[in-house]
Amino acid sequence: MCGIIGVVGGGSLAKQLTDGLRRLEYRGYDSAGIVITLPGGEMQRMRAANGKNSLADLESESQSLASADILSGIGHTRWATHGGPTLPNAHPHYDCSERLAVIQNGIVENFAELKGQLIERGHSFTSETDTEVISHLLEEEMNTGITLLEAVKIASHRMRGAMSFVAISLDAPGVLIGFKRMAPMILGTNGKQWFIASDIPAILDQASTFYHLEDDSVVSVSKDGVEVFAEDGTRAEMTEFIVDWTLESAEKAGFEDFMSKEIFEQPAALRDTLAGRLRSSGEIELDETSISNDALARINKVFIVACGTSYHAGMVAKYAIEHWTKMPVELDISSEFRYRDPVVDERTLVVAVSQSGETLDTLAALHEAKNLGAQTIAVCNVVGSSMARLADSVLYTRAGPEVGVAATKTHTAQIGALLLLALKLSRIKGQLYPNEIDDIYHELVEIPGKIEEVLEKWDFIRSVAQVFSERDRFYFIGRHVGFPVALEGALKLKEISYLPAEGYPAGELKHGPIAMLDKNAVVIAMASKTRLFEKIVSNIEEVRARDSAVIVIGNHGSESIIKEGEYFIEVPQVHPLLAPLVDVVPLQIFAYHMARIHGEDVDRPRNLAKTVTVE
Ligand code: F6R
Repeated sequence: MCGIIGVVGGGSLAKQLTDGLRRLEYRGYDSAGIVITLPGGEMQRMRAANGKNSLADLESESQSLASADILSGIGHTRWATHGGPTLPNAHPHYDCSERLAVIQNGIVENFAELKGQLIERGHSFTSETDTEVISHLLEEEMNTGITLLEAVKIASHRMRGAMSFVAISLDAPGVLIGFKRMAPMILGTNGKQWFIASDIPAILDQASTFYHLEDDSVVSVSKDGVEVFAEDGTRAEMTEFIVDWTLESAEKAGFEDFMSKEIFEQPAALRDTLAGRLRSSGEIELDETSISNDALARINKVFIVACGTSYHAGMVAKYAIEHWTKMPVELDISSEFRYRDPVVDERTLVVAVSQSGETLDTLAALHEAKNLGAQTIAVCNVVGSSMARLADSVLYTRAGPEVGVAATKTHTAQIGALLLLALKLSRIKGQLYPNEIDDIYHELVEIPGKIEEVLEKWDFIRSVAQVFSERDRFYFIGRHVGFPVALEGALKLKEISYLPAEGYPAGELKHGPIAMLDKNAVVIAMASKTRLFEKIVSNIEEVRARDSAVIVIGNHGSESIIKEGEYFIEVPQVHPLLAPLVDVVPLQIFAYHMARIHGEDVDRPRNLAKTVTVE
């Protein structure tokens, strides 16, 4: 997804811009660009559209500005949405006069209509992007004699969609104007300079104080400070927030890549997520809440909305909440929820699960849930993210920054947080006694140690991946909470190794997927000891009878279920509802090694972005 940075306040800004863009690499990009203003009324634009080399190209081109005295600048990494990843489509985008430039993250939904009108009125466009519409709209407003700030206030009302953008103009080169609507945008300062950015890492080492903006804010940033305006044009506030992430924590810390580092960070991430959340009374604390326990007691249904890996965490939560609270739990892919008339009312608790807290589909689902009158909770990793601010309550996963595009530590942290929520609800509903909650919580806090045991199997799992590295199809099967684990294992393998992989409930094999099994297929079976153990063993027999290779993920004592030529990866036995926290780890490691064996870039898989802020 697109990354944004803007700096005002003088100095060697070009490097600050490209350094900031480097730290946004994890958002995915296919082109990059900057615009800077120089004293004397000059604006210079540099852009590169060379896939993952775009930033390197931009860095070398902008060397020429190293000693230039720059007033202000904006920078952008683009992940193509409207128009291909070409140079003309790379941001920043000029107006006709080339005195004004804009960068955007998001989509101007009515851009085609606006573009048609602008062309009729004589504007000429050089790109296929929706962003260029913003430049021309602002130009048109400024031609009436108003400032860029006033132009942004007016033009923002003419555009529909979730977007944040920053504009810069030669009329006031020391000022940046930003607009935020349902796409991330923060401000920061180091006392001398001010920054606008799409997210924290871009300015983490450059700013010391950070601020959030509300949706529909217009912000004017100069070296002297900031003015914020609400949707109706009146002065508004920004909110300071504390960033306790260090740059070091966003670096690889000796690992070859972020994904392996983050897989190994799981015990610590989960410990942090669980730490101090249980009161001696059996009460579990949410981070920020405006939902009283009385209101939660009136809830008669839970609805979980999420995408991708977060959805799989939500699926585990469905099993736990239904078992521990006896309340029905519905689960929806966020992009389905908002378009299908979900049955939600003020007695429904809608839980939005999202690492970033910015995924547009989930954010929109959360908006929809609020419109329908539901009580809402966001489970997310990024403090102060859009979802965290929109929901009535927040439960943060405290996993720290996750740079690898494939979610790992945030997934196990999500499951941990959701299990806490399930326990909280069960206590409020009176379905579990405080001592039962206490027991499960204490089993939960033992899980990070169990994950450490699985991490010790790193090399063994690599050898298993090596054995099957030439196979072309992988099927992950599981039952009960083993099913979401199977889905997650398949998703991890697909997204970083590009091998065909599917997850199935094991009992469903015989209803179709078994037709795909032959001697080229590999089946990975989740076979932890639960009351369904015997059934999964029967499913493994079905697989064997079709000559497919078998890898079993199981507990100590179950080794005998494998036959010659098959592989057994042992994971510690834990409470069945907590097992996904442990059982998913060998699947992450398997996917990681398979991708490395195939020579793939595990941190930046093709076609994927870390945060998907478009629909
Ligand atoms: C997979 C992955 C994605 C995300 C999905 C939701 O490894 O990372 O499937 O889980 O895009 O993102 P968040 O959790 O930020 O809402």
